[in-house]
Amino acid sequence: MPLSSRRRYALVGAGSRAGMFLRAITGDHADVAELVAMADTNQARPAAHNRRLAEPVPVYDAADFTEMLKRERVDVVLVATVDRYHDHYVAAALDAGCDAITEKPMTVDVAGCRRILDAQRRTGRDVRVTFNYRYNPLHEAVKRVISSGEIGEIGSVHFEWLLDVRHGADYFRRWHRDKANSGGLLVHKAGHHFDLVNWWLDDGPEQVFAAGRLFFYGEQGRRHGYARDYDRAHGAATADGDPFALRMADEPTMRELYLEAEGDDGYIRDRNVFAPGVTIEDDMAVLVRYTRGASMSYHLTAYAPWEGYRVMFNGSRGRLELEVVESDHVSPGAAAGVKGEPGAESAAEKGFKRLLVRPFWAPPREVVVDGLSRHGHGGADVRMLADLIRPGAPKDPLGRTAGAVDGARALLTGLAANESLAQGQAVRVQDLLDLEDNE
Ligand SMILES: NC(=O)c1ccc[n+]([C@@H]2O[C@H](COP(=O)([O-])OP(=O)(O)OC[C@H]3O[C@@H](n4cnc5c(N)ncnc54)[C@H](O)[C@@H]3O)[C@@H](O)[C@H]2O)c1
Repeated sequence: MPLSSRRRYALVGAGSRAGMFLRAITGDHADVAELVAMADTNQARPAAHNRRLAEPVPVYDAADFTEMLKRERVDVVLVATVDRYHDHYVAAALDAGCDAITEKPMTVDVAGCRRILDAQRRTGRDVRVTFNYRYNPLHEAVKRVISSGEIGEIGSVHFEWLLDVRHGADYFRRWHRDKANSGGLLVHKAGHHFDLVNWWLDDGPEQVFAAGRLFFYGEQGRRHGYARDYDRAHGAATADGDPFALRMADEPTMRELYLEAEGDDGYIRDRNVFAPGVTIEDDMAVLVRYTRGASMSYHLTAYAPWEGYRVMFNGSRGRLELEVVESDHVSPGAAAGVKGEPGAESAAEKGFKRLLVRPFWAPPREVVVDGLSRHGHGGADVRMLADLIRPGAPKDPLGRTAGAVDGARALLTGLAANESLAQGQAVRVQDLLDLEDNE
């Protein structure tokens, strides 16, 4: 492709996740894509990213987003802001004639979801939601087994996801801890898992019931005896030796992206996980009934001693079981770090993965999966970026590319679960938003 015909990308929301997109566009995919601008409410963070780029790009204040799209002749907008603002930027990008690629969750409420679906219908532009977990080779193998019919029709799914006290704790230090920003973990985190099940079953949620609470973190968690007396870790002597304290000054990227950027907007990245103000849950049980009749029992725990998941499918011809241990324990030295960042590696992070097909009346068969990586969600991120950015790829037999309706289905499962938590009864997804018109 001649360099002049590369698609022109602008990024809004230049925090830590943004780095993945910036590296892909200016690195592996620079022959087909060009980064032309960044926007954020905070100017220090895009400036930090610019220092790492061989060719820095213009930085705009987020208030000038539409002006940026026009002036920089943007083709595609990458949305990686705090979740609650995704719908605003996706809709504005579509209305300006751009395509949009948004981080998950697509947005955090029904109004935002409707805004995106309406904007897409109105403009005919393309929306992609970055459900990277679909691209994990293990998850692709699950999709292949189920689609092959080897375990027959799926009757039910049992899915448990554990976030350890290092990674899970991180949602309680910053903006995610406020449900208005993130939709809570049922939207922000479980949305990945709900999307996987929708995709694996090729189905969508019909009715959702949830029970959950804030049990371990926040003020409620103080009774468990771990809480120290400080509001944020930086500069607090009482945070010394606290395995829940995030030490930003010790880690160059954290220091540059957050600590040194605080003057701009007062974004505090290292709050005490037991400090007041947490409005999200850390322990959630969800029952979902899907439109074609299957059910799922799901549990998300954000304070586990190890990190990983188990998902099982009960089928009319057998059972499929996936078990993944991403980290078998958190060592005290690594506890304060954030998953996947330098210094956070635990010696125990060796990983265990097993995918078993258990047919009726026959011994189990292990499905051997190649291509797994220890980085970027099992190698999923790199594969997803290639699918999103490189044009003309052959049609994907696994249908991994997620659009706005997929984003809505995953979101609505979480929103129905949140509604069920509030009401104490089962919620019909259709009562929140009817997706029929958007198929
Ligand atoms: N798929 C994944 O595995 C994965 C992993 C991490 C993060 N994410 C997603 O990426 C997004 C960003 O997460 P992060 O960890 O980088 O967060 P972050 O806090 O590091 O970055 C968010 C950025 O958005 C900016 N911002 C806040 N309000 C804004 C507004 N109104 N307009 C423009 N910019 C605004 C902030 O200043 C910040 O630079 C989230 O939606 C998150 O769910 C996805």
